[in-house]
Amino acid sequence: MPDDIAIDRLDPADIELVGPLWRQLMDHVAALPGALVPVRPSDESWELERREMLATLAGEAFVLVARRRDEVVGYAYVCVEGPDPVWYTGDKHAVLAALCVDARERGDGVGTALMDAVDEELDRLGIEDVEIGVDQGNSVAARLYERRGYRPDFHIYYGTPGRRPWACLRREAEDRAAGRGRFAPPARPAHDATPDGERSPRGIAPSPPSGHEEPR
Ligand SMILES: CC(C)(COP(=O)(O)OP(=O)(O)OC[C@H]1O[C@@H](n2cnc3c(N)ncnc32)[C@H](O)[C@@H]1OP(=O)(O)O)[C@@H](O)C(=O)NCCC(=O)NCCS
Repeated sequence: MPDDIAIDRLDPADIELVGPLWRQLMDHVAALPGALVPVRPSDESWELERREMLATLAGEAFVLVARRRDEVVGYAYVCVEGPDPVWYTGDKHAVLAALCVDARERGDGVGTALMDAVDEELDRLGIEDVEIGVDQGNSVAARLYERRGYRPDFHIYYGTPGRRPWACLRREAEDRAAGRGRFAPPARPAHDATPDGERSPRGIAPSPPSGHEEPR
């Protein structure tokens, strides 16, 4: 683990500290090559994720955060569930629900240190079975897990009943046409705003965030 990294459990009262990393994780997933399933707009997504995290953190779930000089630079969110009816787990099994390291800090061992800390915590809890969902094109994450002995098996199929076009793609197309959600123009910095609310003097037309221009 890098010398200047400290890892500890997140107090649920401080949950907003991981919001920016959740958004980075969603942006990363949205931009993965070959991804089929469109990703919910960041604000909506964080609101739903935050709610779910708070509900599970009131139980046995935990979040480990990595800090560098008091800045949160990564986190792992782990849910604890009972015995799986199919997979031959022990009385409890864990689901790694999220792992993200700040984009500026990747490749420096923080993700590995977080996974080591998750292992220690699960050892302490006596949990031996772990499930991790990984998007198809997320090869960096897949390699990290595979190096640690994990292997993919079960597949999840996505779609809309009746062979209809996917509803999620329709929602994404509507957002794109309306210039909202992931396709909303980036917020202008306050110093760019003109008093009458017109476009900034530089006249830079807003463009959608990179990685989301084309239908997926
Ligand atoms: C996956 C992730 C958590 C790994 O965190 P990290 O701090 O970069 O991981 P580490 O520095 O410990 O590196 C782990 C390995 O990945 C490699 N790696 C990290 N970033 C990489 C990159 N951008 N490209 C290629 N390899 C990379 C490292 O070289 C290292 O390999 P090694 O063990 O052979 O040296 C981080 O890349 C991330 O947050 N990605 C975006 C979100 C995400 O995909 N989360 C996982 C969801 S399932």
